[in-house]
Amino acid sequence: MSSPSTTDADVANSYNEWDPLKEAIVGCIEGAAVPQWEPSFEVDLTLQCRDFLQMYAGSPFPRELVEPAAKELEEFCRILTAEGITVRRPDCVDFSQPYSTPDFSASGLYAAMPRDILLAIGNEIIEAPMAWRCRFFEHRAYRSLMKDYLRRGAKWTTAPKPLMADELYDFDYLAKSPEEREKLALSRSKFAVTEYEPCFDAADVVRFGRDIFVQRSLTTNQLGILWLQRHLGDRFRVRTVSFEDSKPLHIDASLVPLRPGLALTCPIRPCHQAEGFKKAGWDLVEAAQPTLPNSWKMLFASRWLSMNILVLDPQRVVVEAQEEPLRKQLEDLGFETISIPFRHVYTFGGSFHCATCDVRREGQLEDYGFPSE
Ligand code: NVA
Repeated sequence: MSSPSTTDADVANSYNEWDPLKEAIVGCIEGAAVPQWEPSFEVDLTLQCRDFLQMYAGSPFPRELVEPAAKELEEFCRILTAEGITVRRPDCVDFSQPYSTPDFSASGLYAAMPRDILLAIGNEIIEAPMAWRCRFFEHRAYRSLMKDYLRRGAKWTTAPKPLMADELYDFDYLAKSPEEREKLALSRSKFAVTEYEPCFDAADVVRFGRDIFVQRSLTTNQLGILWLQRHLGDRFRVRTVSFEDSKPLHIDASLVPLRPGLALTCPIRPCHQAEGFKKAGWDLVEAAQPTLPNSWKMLFASRWLSMNILVLDPQRVVVEAQEEPLRKQLEDLGFETISIPFRHVYTFGGSFHCATCDVRREGQLEDYGFPSE
């Protein structure tokens, strides 16, 4: 139980992406496994990725990829700790273990990207109902942490886990040509997942205090957004936001708030609701071009991971060491930047924002200019 001097806000308290950071879960790359082929990969995979999956499916990720990424994660943790931030890590789990449910067989992926599965809102941590079969048991790596947060006063919620039977995937859409799929995705009429049952990835959600923006994506459906809205209730306004993006998957390289009134957007994925943000008093600034060479091995993500930064407080941000144009841009916007090498972590599909869950920040629930509907 909480000690008498501990309040819930001392355990978990996180309402936005920029208040001073006090505690974060940082992902762990050890135990990461290459997933087996599954229906929704059809849309997202580059050719390079496809070959890689074919070669290694079901096996641990090759050591030559894991080791440098693990070192970068350790260094990131060391720097956060030196900044006075409490760092928590998931348990090491062997994700190459195969499993079957009554609906499918698969093996796992990793616990490298806590942002995808954990959504911290206020003193609550929600385990998201993710849609990839390789992520069905990912929560196991977070059980020790979640039990500890619960015991000390946080609210722990598991959203209804999708069965992930074939009905969740739109095979008709997946069988179309890449061009047809692109058209359908841009018109936001069809995605890789159906509306059979609720699903969302926590990384499709971005928190602006009372206003929670969510994108419909390859892994987030309307029913998932409805679940979140109904679950959070009247204290929050869950709003759907969209981008010119034919493969939407995780919002945190498309809309990245930096401090009240200022957010980065991705020049190749303009936000359809930009006018609304401007009316609410927010400046949307296009992020500088990424520097990552096209030849860099990448799974499930683009070079725009450059934007996937972690805001430590409204004056300080963590940026990848080689993203010099972005670093310069952030300094021009008035931030102090902390540069940390992270390209080997990029390979696994995320950068600083993806690799963390900011469980505790200072600050309260506030409004940041968006009108109540
Ligand atoms: N899917 C997006 C966001 C990743 C955080 C990208 O690859 O750019």
